[in-house]
Amino acid sequence: MIPHDLLAWYDANARLLPWRAPPGTPPPDPYRVWLSEIMLQQTTVATVRPRFETFVTRWPTVAALAAADEVEVMAAWAGLGYYSRARNLIACACTVVTDHAGRFPDTEDGLRALPGIGSYTAAAIAAIAFGRRAVVVDGNVERVVSRLFAIDTPLPAAKPLIRAAAETITPATRAGDFAQAMMDLGTAICTPRNPKCLLCPLRTACRAHALGTPDAFPVKPRKIAKPQRYGTIFWLERDGQVLLVRRPPRGLLGGMRALPTGPWSDSPPAFADPPARANWRVLDGTVTHVFTHFRLDLALAVAHADAHEPPADGAWWPIAEIESAGLPTVFAKAARAIGRTR
Ligand code: ADE
Ligand code: SF4
Repeated sequence: MIPHDLLAWYDANARLLPWRAPPGTPPPDPYRVWLSEIMLQQTTVATVRPRFETFVTRWPTVAALAAADEVEVMAAWAGLGYYSRARNLIACACTVVTDHAGRFPDTEDGLRALPGIGSYTAAAIAAIAFGRRAVVVDGNVERVVSRLFAIDTPLPAAKPLIRAAAETITPATRAGDFAQAMMDLGTAICTPRNPKCLLCPLRTACRAHALGTPDAFPVKPRKIAKPQRYGTIFWLERDGQVLLVRRPPRGLLGGMRALPTGPWSDSPPAFADPPARANWRVLDGTVTHVFTHFRLDLALAVAHADAHEPPADGAWWPIAEIESAGLPTVFAKAARAIGRTR
């Protein structure tokens, strides 16, 4: 039984953290649970730990925090990042004091109505501070559950499936310990890479382990294919020198020294705008390069120049020293490809 085996593991292996009650003991102060959960949104346990101690020493109750000087609270938050969390923290403390007589609501719905508390945080506080059966799904839990059930739908479409599966294993009692046990399992055992399945208390129930492919879960979203563009790089040489140009200041690789190119087009071939009239020969094969927003497939055209003067905006560069021209990668690749054909 997953909940039973996990709770037994947690009883022996729980991380002792300053906002936690030891396994199986009554829930901790909701103020401390709330404060820790807000701090742990997007910040690691290691970073939160000392800050949490500072906060609760200085402001031991929600009433103390509500009465605090906002500037001092913001200063104590420094380094935790996401400062809207600190502003919501103060707003939430004031709401609890003025609208709820200084007591946190003890249901998910009541908690979610407070500033800075979303669905995840409401579920975590309801379970951990009030022992409510709530389904708590953070990134760790997502990973563990998707493996336990071998959920092969890619994220984010898998989220409701993961949530439904997590619901089926959430116990009616000790829901707070269960949620934190899942987090600890995800941190210590069921890690993103190379999970330690042989040490895992849920091994015999785990479908990803049975399949032998725990790393395959959760399935990552498919990357959106980048648009494909085509173009031509022109290699014009004379007397052991090649024509280099400076790219226009705006646009791709703006201002960089470069081999001349034609315009990009959506379909091959794209031989257009050579830098000089010459007997151009297009080589077999292309050079490809992936930029942030598109992939570029470049044909290579080579020719010998007749004239001494370089075409406008260009300069001759010794081919033997091409590596020191400071060319962006795509042009350095092209130069090497052409070098291999000579
Ligand atoms: N991350 C978010 N909540 C946590 C908790 N209660 N314990 C450990 N890590 C957490
Ligand atoms: Fe994760 Fe492996 Fe345990 Fe399955 S058996 S929950 S993959 S650590």
